[in-house]
Amino acid sequence: MQFTTVKGFKDILPGEVEIWQSVESTARNLFRSFGFHEIKTPLLERTELFTRGIGEATDIVSKEMYSLTDTRGRSMSLRPEATASVARAYIQNRLYLKNPVQKLFTIGPMFRHERPQKGRFRQFHQIDAELFGDPGPKSDAEIIVLSATLIDALGIKDTVLNINSLGCRECRPEFRERLQRFMQDRSEQLCPDCKRRAEINPLRVFDCKVKRCNEVVSDAPSILDFLCDSCRHHFEAVKDYLGLADVSFTVNPRLVRGLDYYSRTAFEIQTDKLGAQNAIAGGGRYDGLVKLLGGPDHPAIGFAMGVERVVALLQDTETRKPERPDLFIADIGENARKTSFAWLLRLRKQGLWVETDYGSGGLKAKMKKADRLGAARVLIVGDDELESGRAVLRDMDTKDQTEIELGNVVETLLSLILMAS
Ligand code: HAM
Repeated sequence: MQFTTVKGFKDILPGEVEIWQSVESTARNLFRSFGFHEIKTPLLERTELFTRGIGEATDIVSKEMYSLTDTRGRSMSLRPEATASVARAYIQNRLYLKNPVQKLFTIGPMFRHERPQKGRFRQFHQIDAELFGDPGPKSDAEIIVLSATLIDALGIKDTVLNINSLGCRECRPEFRERLQRFMQDRSEQLCPDCKRRAEINPLRVFDCKVKRCNEVVSDAPSILDFLCDSCRHHFEAVKDYLGLADVSFTVNPRLVRGLDYYSRTAFEIQTDKLGAQNAIAGGGRYDGLVKLLGGPDHPAIGFAMGVERVVALLQDTETRKPERPDLFIADIGENARKTSFAWLLRLRKQGLWVETDYGSGGLKAKMKKADRLGAARVLIVGDDELESGRAVLRDMDTKDQTEIELGNVVETLLSLILMAS
């Protein structure tokens, strides 16, 4: 029997991994300049953290979690997103005592049992940033600017930033009620899923991909007409800050998010290059979550970007040259194999990528191997060369060959290679 990956899970192979590394290092550098610190939380948490945090009626919690029961009968789940876990860590470790404003980021796999399709996986990765402890519109703008700057720094073009305000505990209930009535009046025209959504969470109908539901939604009431003064001022100020930051955005009153913890600002960065899965990053303010999870009443805002989606966009435009070994040592004969093994280790210690092979084949076979690996140059060394104290260095691009002294071979190779790079 041959084993293959589970449906919706995938291997990330050399060739693609380099793009992942570059995405992660761009993110880490940017997070540093915005003052965010990395945190790593477990992949497995108590199921209740997510049911309470994300919301029992959401698709994520009601049908997409990978849950199991442990030997003591407790329900555990693989994290479907990072926010609830980071908020738990913030509360459990009382991070707020160290600094009233905590800026944290995390990078890692998430799990959702969704129907796999282009850009949608059951194990996927997020780059996630969370800012705890500030209620003001400036931190909303900082998080939105951070996500837009990240997309920009990654070289992703033609994206649209949609923003909305989802109101607060004061003003949302009235809107929800009005929307519910609106949807109930048109229930016959809605898809079966939205019929159910209209009852439990009518805002989610905005997110439906079914054309009929889209038509119904097109003249639904707008949340922006229901915002209380405080939410309206907050949203205006966020927009002002975004204007100051020169970030272009579209106000989209139909933008809702698939998680229940949001209040006020919500946003998404979208592309039309990934088919139905058009969101590259999304986030928003979640002022009630920390308290809901048993912590102090601290406001927060954050976002997460889907790494698979970003990598798919970058793969389409990727022009980077693949990395190649700096040197291949073609060692012919027992003595050369042993002597050059020490050179190889010393050169690697200096950070060079040095390859050799493990067989005792002849020069032709070794040159073929060096060529297949794409080595930039080959050092040819056999027993004769050891005796004469001189060996040949072949440039694999120009085919030029030079003789080098074996006296200080490591230093000579190091300076030649560093000079050329
Ligand atoms: P989300 O919108 O559910 O938000 O996910 C954020 C991003 O993760 C999406 O925009 C998408 O790029 C990626 N993503 C989601 N599901 C999948 C999937 N099945 N396959 C591939 N990529 C996927 C959250 O998770 C919130 N926790 C974001 C947040 C942080 N809000 C506040 N702080």
